[in-house]
Amino acid sequence: MGTEEQGYFTEESSTEVVTSRNAGAKSARLKEVMEVVTRKLHEAVKELEPTQEEWMDAILFLTRTGHMCNEWRQEFILLSDVLGVSMLVDAINNRKPSGASESTVLGPFHVADAPELPLGANICLDQKGEDMVIGGRILDIEGRPIENAVLDVWQANDEGFYDVQQQGIQPDFNLRGIFRTGSDGYYWFRAVKPKYYPIPDDGPVGQLLAALGRHPYRPAHLHYIIKADGFETLTTHIFDPDDPYIHSDAVFGVKESLLAEFRLMDDPAQAKDLGFDGKFWKVEHDFVLAPAR
Ligand code: BEZ
Ligand code: FE
Repeated sequence: MGTEEQGYFTEESSTEVVTSRNAGAKSARLKEVMEVVTRKLHEAVKELEPTQEEWMDAILFLTRTGHMCNEWRQEFILLSDVLGVSMLVDAINNRKPSGASESTVLGPFHVADAPELPLGANICLDQKGEDMVIGGRILDIEGRPIENAVLDVWQANDEGFYDVQQQGIQPDFNLRGIFRTGSDGYYWFRAVKPKYYPIPDDGPVGQLLAALGRHPYRPAHLHYIIKADGFETLTTHIFDPDDPYIHSDAVFGVKESLLAEFRLMDDPAQAKDLGFDGKFWKVEHDFVLAPAR
């Protein structure tokens, strides 16, 4: 089958010997993937020349990463996130036409089946945090409003925790909701100002970050998944540009176009209309959806 022609495995011939063994692969894509991965991996090993102990450490790190995974925790995705691979895969799969809003990582805290709420509803169910009103339009790339766009939004609270991380402390579905635009393409809802938070760092990925001298924090943000018939689904965030971690997001999710303006409002009449007590934050951010491919 050609393996004899390749000769025996040596340091010099390693990549060719291994990849030629895959000549009978049933999937051309798998063959291509394994060829590239084998080549890059052998290149790394040749450049680094790990000791046997170092290679075993690497294997044990991956083993611990697997053991950390369960129904709720996907440590390999976290690893991909902190290595910038999640954002790279996201970028490759979400190249947008000019003018369309940019995507970013989904993250592990999305919950399916959040309640659909009327526009203007307050998604903060425990009255904790600084009041905030968020609104904007969902538009097509010609600037026309998109009716019936569905926004699935979720965020951390003012202490940097999602409801699912504080079951029994925060109400279920706290700071989550689904909203639908009317004919003007407008959405709005009330919430509280989110805070920065650490990605789950009590496992091997957290240990890796610490060993690399990196912090585990993500700057404050709101998550959106926006769907509309005839358009590509947009998974994205908006970020607080004044957050202390805005230039060092642990998972590289920040993009300039996703920085929103968080304005502190001292307007008693507007506060009263919104059912707020005093000062509140106001965020206005439009999203532009790309047409479906
Ligand atoms: C998040 O924003 O929810 C998130 C994203 C990546 C890793 C951890 C959390
Ligand atoms: Fe998040």
